Amino acid sequence: MSIDDNIQIDNPTSCPVTHFHEVNTEGGPAGWHFDNFDTKREQAAVHTGVAGPAQYFLVTRMADIRSSFQKASVFSNSAVVPADPDPMYRWIPEMLDGREHTAWRHLLGPFFAPAAVANMESMVRARFGEVLDAVAAKGSCDFVQDVALLFPNVVFMDLFGLPREDAETFQAWEVDILHGGHSSEEGQQRRMDAMMAVMGYFTQLISDRRSTPDPSRTDILSQSLQWEIDGTQVSDQDLLDFCLLMFMAGLDTVAAQLTFNWWHLATHDGDRRRIVSEPALIPTAIEEFLRYYSFVTPGRKVMEDTEIAGCPIKAGQMVYLPLVSANRDPREFPDADQVVIDREANRHIAFGAGPHRCLGSSLARQELQVAMEMWHERIPEYRLAPGAEVREHGGQVGIDSLPLVWDV
Ligand code: HEM
Repeated sequence: MSIDDNIQIDNPTSCPVTHFHEVNTEGGPAGWHFDNFDTKREQAAVHTGVAGPAQYFLVTRMADIRSSFQKASVFSNSAVVPADPDPMYRWIPEMLDGREHTAWRHLLGPFFAPAAVANMESMVRARFGEVLDAVAAKGSCDFVQDVALLFPNVVFMDLFGLPREDAETFQAWEVDILHGGHSSEEGQQRRMDAMMAVMGYFTQLISDRRSTPDPSRTDILSQSLQWEIDGTQVSDQDLLDFCLLMFMAGLDTVAAQLTFNWWHLATHDGDRRRIVSEPALIPTAIEEFLRYYSFVTPGRKVMEDTEIAGCPIKAGQMVYLPLVSANRDPREFPDADQVVIDREANRHIAFGAGPHRCLGSSLARQELQVAMEMWHERIPEYRLAPGAEVREHGGQVGIDSLPLVWDV
């Protein structure tokens, strides 16, 4: 008997039944989740099925996904994981709605605005230079462990004023929390232990910074101690919920995107050689990789009875809005199923849409740009290690390991 057989699915329309574990599994060959969404999208605009304790709805096409993000009063961020409609946690600002969310975006906006990010460029270049120095002369690396996970971590350390040597610890927590493998009891325990460790780390940090304030510190965390909303100081609990969200939003996302980009370039010689010979193409190519390899799959909780593409959905139910399914929708993009690195019009939603659109998109683009430029100046020719089998995990979808080799 399957884990879902006990739950009655209310399926009033003809939408097909697709259980959550069929679209976000523990793993498979790289690209598997994306291809699966392509199939689901062409089968139907909405599927229903079971996610954890409840029924959920998988929405597959750009027009419906984009408009769900934009109707924030109907599609709430109070729950964002389809299998968890009544969460005990509240990541800030991701899980806030309405005025409270707007107030937080006003506080955070200046730190991530394009002008602020432009000022970080020399720091970001220096951090990527260090990561690259450590691998370039070796002629091989695991791109995931040695580059993709490490680079955004060391940038984060700078942003939050944390010691560089904690980056490897962050990296291990990140893998345990976000890279799936949670169907076994041992995997779940590992995830829980890592979450407790991250919470403990930030709780201690906030308390230390409060007890020994240092006005010369300009990092985000030190400044956040002064933040107020409607004249009231932001509480330590809210600061902790903010730090947890930043940990999850700012590290593994850039790592996953970098890895999909390099997987593509290592296996498509023509595209890689164009990046090397025409570096002015890099920004356009990055937008195309963001479109084609969009791994973020947000959920929303429905606040009032509604319908999507003729499918009725009741208040309290969850919808699942995989961005890759929208971004590869042939109704929206010509040659949607091809990577076209010089694609001209590219209105993808890899950073989401509506009020929760990614706060860190300028920084993310800068990190992707710097990494692609600097790596290809130094290592223009590289390939997958012979015999490498590239696989991806569920959870926050991403590649487990990407062994690369090059001549030195
Ligand atoms: C390629 C890298 C990245 C991608 C693809 C990405 C994608 C996204 C997406 C799709 C959302 C919206 C989620 C939703 O609608 O539920 C989001 C939200 C967010 N992202 Fe990113 N992100 C990336 C990097 C970053 C970075 C580097 C930071 C900061 C250091 C960041 C900070 C945030 C924050 C704070 C939110 C929540 C915004 C809100 O709720 O108002 N992201 N991101």
